[in-house]
Amino acid sequence: MKLDTLKKLYIEQLKDLYSAEKQLIKALPKMADFASNKKLKESFKKHLEETEGQVERLEKIFSDLEVSGNGKTCAAMKGLIKGGEELMEEDGDPAVLDAGLIAAAQRVEHYEMAAYGCIQEFAEILGEESAALCLKQTFAEEAKADEDLAELATSSVNPDASKAGSGEKSKRRSSDKSQFYKQGEPRPTDGSHQNFRV
Ligand SMILES: [Fe+2]
Repeated sequence: MKLDTLKKLYIEQLKDLYSAEKQLIKALPKMADFASNKKLKESFKKHLEETEGQVERLEKIFSDLEVSGNGKTCAAMKGLIKGGEELMEEDGDPAVLDAGLIAAAQRVEHYEMAAYGCIQEFAEILGEESAALCLKQTFAEEAKADEDLAELATSSVNPDASKAGSGEKSKRRSSDKSQFYKQGEPRPTDGSHQNFRV
């Protein structure tokens, strides 16, 4: 499609998100199965249900626009999911793997938040008011999912992961986030980076 109007770009980006959400619907059950922490499993299952609703919202937007949502593959989501799949092929301590799974899932949520934020702006400027409301609703769900993952990481998964392995080193906390770490040295475990807000 020749992108010579904002509306065409809006539709292209909606299609990209539609593909992203459908890829996520396939990935989330695998993440729920792989997770060891019960709350993390529940969190992925809950977000799967939300994602199914988000797909329906996008389908309603396509139907109102009288265009098909198909025909595009979101390369970014494909890569993000691949990152999570690579983690799930690893052996390791369950809590450490859960911490990795949350890190992968938060990358997905941040991508979606950025995408929905941009597209909602397009919808508003194009006068697509009901679509803008739907997109805003989805953005809020992604932000909440991200917040819940961060809370789970900082309250239990990361502290559990820090106990894995041997000795005091794995429990070490750092107060200086700007320092460089040598390969193999433990990273800070306070999870404060996961409270990043867009
Ligand atoms: Fe989503």
